[in-house]
Amino acid sequence: MNYLLGIDIGTSGTKTILVDTLGNEIAAGTAEYPLYQRKNGWAEQEPQDWWQATVKTCREVLLKSGVNPHDIAGIGLTGQMHGLVMLDENGELLRDSIIWCDQRTAFEREQINTAVGPEKLLRITANPAITGFTAAKLLWVRNNQPELYARCRKVLLPKDYIRYKLTGEFATDVSDASGTQLLDIAHRDWSQTVLDDLEIDISLLPKVYESFEVSGQITKEIASLIGLAEGTKVVAGAGDNAAAAVGMGVVVDNKAFTTIGTSGVVFAHTSQMKIDPQGRVHTFCSAVPGEWHMMGVTQAAGLSMQWFRNNFCHEEMQKAKELNVDPYELMNTEAESVSIGSNKLIYLPYLMGERTPYMDPDCRGVFFGLSASHSRKHLIRAVMEGVTFSLYDSVRIFEGLGVRFPEMLVGGGGARSKVWRGMLADVFNSQVKTLHSSESPSYGSAILASVGTGIYASLVEACSVLVKCDLSIYPDTTHHGEYMKYYGIYQDLYKDLAVEYKNLAAI
Ligand code: XUL
Repeated sequence: MNYLLGIDIGTSGTKTILVDTLGNEIAAGTAEYPLYQRKNGWAEQEPQDWWQATVKTCREVLLKSGVNPHDIAGIGLTGQMHGLVMLDENGELLRDSIIWCDQRTAFEREQINTAVGPEKLLRITANPAITGFTAAKLLWVRNNQPELYARCRKVLLPKDYIRYKLTGEFATDVSDASGTQLLDIAHRDWSQTVLDDLEIDISLLPKVYESFEVSGQITKEIASLIGLAEGTKVVAGAGDNAAAAVGMGVVVDNKAFTTIGTSGVVFAHTSQMKIDPQGRVHTFCSAVPGEWHMMGVTQAAGLSMQWFRNNFCHEEMQKAKELNVDPYELMNTEAESVSIGSNKLIYLPYLMGERTPYMDPDCRGVFFGLSASHSRKHLIRAVMEGVTFSLYDSVRIFEGLGVRFPEMLVGGGGARSKVWRGMLADVFNSQVKTLHSSESPSYGSAILASVGTGIYASLVEACSVLVKCDLSIYPDTTHHGEYMKYYGIYQDLYKDLAVEYKNLAAI
């Protein structure tokens, strides 16, 4: 039993890694799938795509590695949070999944506030009513597709649908369940009070585990489909950010990370539960048993770059194909050739509304200050700077709440960019560090499996052996001062536009 498998059901694709019990990556596989945006502010994915990607990437790592499946001690699951998966009485999908960045639920958010009451909701679920969380999505289906709601027998989160397919079990973990807005965050189980207020039957919900606990085993049928061994243990796992925290060793106080994936996250571990009274950053159960974390979220971080690449960088994409490199590498070089402030161009990354600090489903993206002197390279750099400013909003909220961290670990696809890493250090005015494993959520879920299967005694012990730092980048205070001239304007722009965002949404 020398290996562990980590499966991450991300927004852009599924990433599966096989590691040995010392954390060395033996093989990895990824498979992408589409995001459907049928209306402005909507976002859906097809859970069958997640499943096919899981089958494909598991087969791929087994084939590439040549490892005997009986030598895999356990499997950890992680994935995008909040997405709504609805199953009927036969365990069949009732509709596409409405995923985390979908913003259609402004009405349902108010319905939740009225039914539960904002103060009680913050006290029990540790968060204000949020459009992106699962409860609002479930109420949307009840309000708009009552015939589907009536046939629903189970509500699952994305990675938990994959668990159901692998093991036949209906289960989730405390960290991912925290993002449903139906969990009592202090007591780490479903809140009967909130469920009663919202008239949701508890039988719809899966069993809640701590993240390292074994939640089921690979069934015979799946073993022969994928090539895994029947009976391999599957641990509960964690939401992508809580799993990334494990993968980056952020499992004790005074540790924090920033990731730039499709979303952007600033995350701090807290052994005691703390709530932001203004509800600007989330408080969730941690993957560490009996502890918590706080996090601020930028809805469209990597998503902003991906959107810009797909729509405006066809030349880079073509050239990258010829050179056999990633188009983002060429975009990074263009961004690097532009100086701080992108020649007086500011980007607001609100393509999918925004969470931290505004919790506003209606705001939208802006390029402010466009002039005829700007070209694509300025827009690319402005996108990176705008996303970094948004992440800095979260850092400042943490500072205000007295949640401290001497250094910032960085991860996710965005942190592979040297120019973006430097920008994070300069804007945050703090040392930033990268880690050896670049796929933190899948790596973290494999670490959870190592604890669940008894290879390591605790997450803290496992992380002390398995998490290795790589690069350190130091801030330049002159650059920080330069960035702050633009950050002030960046902050004012939201306030100036807040009413117009509502007017635009109302058309
Ligand atoms: C966290 C969040 C995103 C998703 C997708 O609250 O919505 O980070 O988990 O990565």
